[in-house]
Amino acid sequence: MQEKLEELKKRLAEISDLNNATAVLGWDQQTYMPSGGVAARAQQLATLSHIAHEKFTDNAIGHLLEDLHEYAGGLPYDSDDASLIRVTKREYDKAHRVPPALVSEIALASARAFDAWRKAKDASKFSDFAPFLQRNLDLKRRYAECLGYTERIYDPLLDDYEPGMKTAQVEAIFEEVRKEIVPLVYAISSKLNMVDNSFLCQVFDEQKQWDIGVEAARLIGYKFERGRLDRSPHPFTTSFSVDDVRITTRFMQNYFPAAFFATIHEAGHALYNQAIRHELERTPLGDGASLGVHESQSRMWENLVGRSRPFWKFFMPRLQAVFPKQFGHLSPEHVYRAVNRVQPSLIRVEADEITYNLHIILRFELENALLEGRIVVNDLPEAWNAKMQEYLGITPPNDAEGLLQDVHWAHGSFGYFPTYSLGNFFAAQLFVQIGKEIPGIDKYFEEGEYHILRDWLSARLHTHGRKFTMDELAYKITGEPLQIRPFIAYLKNKYGEIYNL
Ligand code: CO
Repeated sequence: MQEKLEELKKRLAEISDLNNATAVLGWDQQTYMPSGGVAARAQQLATLSHIAHEKFTDNAIGHLLEDLHEYAGGLPYDSDDASLIRVTKREYDKAHRVPPALVSEIALASARAFDAWRKAKDASKFSDFAPFLQRNLDLKRRYAECLGYTERIYDPLLDDYEPGMKTAQVEAIFEEVRKEIVPLVYAISSKLNMVDNSFLCQVFDEQKQWDIGVEAARLIGYKFERGRLDRSPHPFTTSFSVDDVRITTRFMQNYFPAAFFATIHEAGHALYNQAIRHELERTPLGDGASLGVHESQSRMWENLVGRSRPFWKFFMPRLQAVFPKQFGHLSPEHVYRAVNRVQPSLIRVEADEITYNLHIILRFELENALLEGRIVVNDLPEAWNAKMQEYLGITPPNDAEGLLQDVHWAHGSFGYFPTYSLGNFFAAQLFVQIGKEIPGIDKYFEEGEYHILRDWLSARLHTHGRKFTMDELAYKITGEPLQIRPFIAYLKNKYGEIYNL
């Protein structure tokens, strides 16, 4: 049995090397590659992904997994070997059910759709993108049929990003969240002027923004000797090994929070990857548990820590030292309130902690309606605007600021959006547990002792890599599956105080 296990690990290690090499090329493409390199890079990426996919779906892996099935059953569920076999089988079964021809068709269609989406967005004309979206939807329906499902066609798509999560579970959670936060948004909408954030919109030297971002990333524990920070149009985190986890950020000269919080957000993702156990490297377990769990980490550092009062009590003098003219005359309380200003707005990525989730719920509802044929692509602009009006009280003036704003549907990534909100909810649930286990955590934050939180997260969550699903982790760490009560309570408490509700 040990020989078979070693054979499986050897094959998986090679695949992991290929995937990490692909990630290096992807990182380079988004940071330093000259634009002339696009066509050749696309071919290189396609070749590497194809080889990795072929190696992973090789029948030999299926046979090894079959032979190891009984052995795994005799091991503790959370042991490295049982988890490796379980998670590899889960991913192998999915990959094996989809014919390679369909995989190529989806890749080709999404490349074309991406191009069409960019042009349609520039022209702010949804009808130019509609046929490509239709094609992506048709292919994703076929993909979902290949994977199979018992309840909802959305289930296998969601499962790609959030293993084990079911559409009905997300629907029930979102329904509850929507009922709680739509009234909250309306209550705050009549008090928008209570919070002044105009001082965040001055001119901020880019090098200084870089320096203060690096200082914050270091403070929360991002290790620059095992990572690096670069610029890219869309901030992201990528990992080539536990000892090489890179982040990027982007700068807005006239808006301080953009780069600062993007850097903390990505550093939050990176702390996760930098703390996965070395023993899990070069296996399918050597990554975060899911997109939602990953996002819970970035959001926790960005919002629950970075937008908290204790954080600004500690960080304010540092901010003032770098930007004396802009912040010298202000108190931590000014900054705390300003970075938490709520404003129903058109663009998801710029949304505050409350309205953000309404942007997600809207997309989740429309994706399901499209996939289940309850609406057709041509109805989408109207359906989008109606929901924006209902949930946020605003209507986009054009398609570019409406349903063309996100890249996900052009990529064919249906089922991705909910993970952003699930991450917010999970972060709040974890934070309640942290409060119970580390009394006086705010005091540590006021004193700049962020390693207390980082070490807790590393020991309880990060170390496990991809062994467990979000619900399994929630249960393991907090004794309950994913809950939304902590998130709702957090919002009501924080914003009730800021807006005097
Ligand atoms: Co993120």
